[in-house]
Amino acid sequence: MSHDDFPTDRPAVVTCGLPYANGDLHIGHLRTYVGGDVYSRALERLGQETAFVSGSDMHGTPVAVNAEQEGVSPEAFALDWHERYAATFPKFNVAFDNYGHTHDETNTAVTQALVRDLEDAGHVYEKEIMVAYDPVDDQYLPDRYVEGTCPYCGAHARGDECDEGCQRHLEPGEVEDPESTITGNPAEYRERTHKFFAVSEFSEYLSGFLDRLEGTSNARNQPREWIEQGLQDWCITRDMDWGIDYPGENPQDLVLYVWVDAPIEYISSTKQYSERVGADEFDWEAAWTEGASEDYPEGGEIVHVIGRDIIQHHTIFWPAMLEATGHAEPRAVMASGFVTLGGKGFSTSRDRAVWADEYLEEGFHPDPLRYYLATNGGFQQDVDFSWEKFADRVNTELVGTVGNFLYRSLLFAHRNYDEAPVADATSDEVEERIDEAIADVEAAVNDYSVRALGDAVTGLARFGNEYIQRNEPWKLVDDEPDEAAQVIHDCVAIAKAIAVLFEPIAPEKCERLWDQLGEDGSVHEVTVEAAREGPAGDLAEPTELFEQIEDERVEALNEKLESRVAEAEAGGEDDGAGADAVDEEESTDDATTDESDMTDIEPISDDRISFDEFQELDIRIGRIEEAEGIEGADDLLRLRVDLGAETRTIVAGLKRLHDVDDLPGTKVVVLANMEKAELFGVESNGMVLAAGEEADLLTTYEDAGPGTKVK
Ligand code: 2FM
Ligand code: ZN
Repeated sequence: MSHDDFPTDRPAVVTCGLPYANGDLHIGHLRTYVGGDVYSRALERLGQETAFVSGSDMHGTPVAVNAEQEGVSPEAFALDWHERYAATFPKFNVAFDNYGHTHDETNTAVTQALVRDLEDAGHVYEKEIMVAYDPVDDQYLPDRYVEGTCPYCGAHARGDECDEGCQRHLEPGEVEDPESTITGNPAEYRERTHKFFAVSEFSEYLSGFLDRLEGTSNARNQPREWIEQGLQDWCITRDMDWGIDYPGENPQDLVLYVWVDAPIEYISSTKQYSERVGADEFDWEAAWTEGASEDYPEGGEIVHVIGRDIIQHHTIFWPAMLEATGHAEPRAVMASGFVTLGGKGFSTSRDRAVWADEYLEEGFHPDPLRYYLATNGGFQQDVDFSWEKFADRVNTELVGTVGNFLYRSLLFAHRNYDEAPVADATSDEVEERIDEAIADVEAAVNDYSVRALGDAVTGLARFGNEYIQRNEPWKLVDDEPDEAAQVIHDCVAIAKAIAVLFEPIAPEKCERLWDQLGEDGSVHEVTVEAAREGPAGDLAEPTELFEQIEDERVEALNEKLESRVAEAEAGGEDDGAGADAVDEEESTDDATTDESDMTDIEPISDDRISFDEFQELDIRIGRIEEAEGIEGADDLLRLRVDLGAETRTIVAGLKRLHDVDDLPGTKVVVLANMEKAELFGVESNGMVLAAGEEADLLTTYEDAGPGTKVK
């Protein structure tokens, strides 16, 4: 089954992975939340009925262990962080329709009902397992309360995950030589009866689900391998006080595993939204429950936006729970890469991060960061943050391209006309270019590409700059006033289209632009159709929308960050196992956990080559026309690359690192006189250049076409 293109007649629910309520948010976290917000706003701009929901993840050992270390109750601790998150997201214009938390009454009731349904449908069974226990403290030690040795690779591991070694999810009882993370006491294993969800029964369903699943390719590829290796049933209970009580027969007083009630909050949060606005405006049951609506019995369009470390929960456990209980099937999972610093993951416990609050305290507006996070690299790629790169994107693209076009056009219009210059209509050329930008936005939404949403607008602004430059209205205004009015009308029409199409990425700036354009209402309420309507309002005196970031500012920010990172490095590994144990992002990021990646950037070679030697490299701009896998090769793709003079077949190791469907149309840099090679029976005639372990593809910044020589 393939899905209809957005916008559809079914309501959409866009969700963002729930942050554990246990510590400050950094800009790495924000990448997922900004991505979700951009995507949900873009759906709304297309006219799709959309609810955007999330909440704080209050339970589990990531919260309980931290609370214990601070000497406060997990409830008070989690609620405090929850309130801080609820206040922080709006400051970044991340506008959830509902932001709840997993410990509230709604989620407790919805979770317990869903687990009862699972049981009633016969998908839950009991099994005796060994659980770590601290005999001195008389306490069971689930998940992050225990650490020891990974039975698979011998690395030091947490109770639930081999975070320093092979990265495997570890089931209760698996970690060897267990010790309590709280007291350091050696732990013993005791037999306990726990509840298991029979996930393995859903293998066939999940294979089909992955074939239908849209979103980023990483969310399909990894789970396919897990299914091929054989799915294990999943322990859904824990020996803890903090959590939602297991609803059925429960003599041992077990609570539900945090990963059961966390995704259910997606449903609960939607329910709270419906209860607030009324089911006429958004019907949570129809969106989440199969058969609840006659018009769309299969439910709504569920889109999950998450970090790449929690793909397994969203593509195996969660869809199996939904399927088992008659809920709607997720349509898409968008799994974002991490944000790194100097190639290494953020570390909450070592203060090696750029904090969300810190960014705002520096006096920056949220929208430039949104733009940077949304458009810097494909959504699933890891991106390395630096203040230079941030400033460079802001200065060249937001200030130099978008801001420059808007300011010069609107200032000229304001100075020369009392109101929007009234030509009869927007010229055909500009109307077509605006249509093209709208089509790009529609394609970006249907490709789940937040980066392409940004590109659609910077492309339109680039056209605007070229259009005003080519037509030079300042030379026409005295002698050819009608022609001048037409050009400026066209430019104001482009500015209006930018306001509408850029709203998902820079909502606050676009609202200000909307006001400058003298348009009625709010740009947050219009659809892309408004971008075609042409200017209507009385123009206000424009002000520059985006602010240049000066070099000295970047230097100062760098210094601050570098000294903090150096301190963090000097602090070494041993700064409290408990604190690190809850640093989910750090501990699951390949960039931080693989020791080989912990080395600094490779030194620059002293072995010089002459200019003549460089000239021997025939480096060209190419455009990928086609991309497909090669039978038997896990990593390789067969590309057809347009090099201007000819189209070549090139084999490249991009399969696991890029969304294959996204590659056609991408401009790349190719070493064209690379010697030919045969790989898996395919002759490769050239080499596509890419940077780093994630194969970040080299491309061009402006419009150099296929065949252009790089020199
Ligand atoms: O990994 C985490 O940070 C979890 N708190 C994410 C939960 S997402 C969900 F609800 F499924
Ligand atoms: Zn391991």
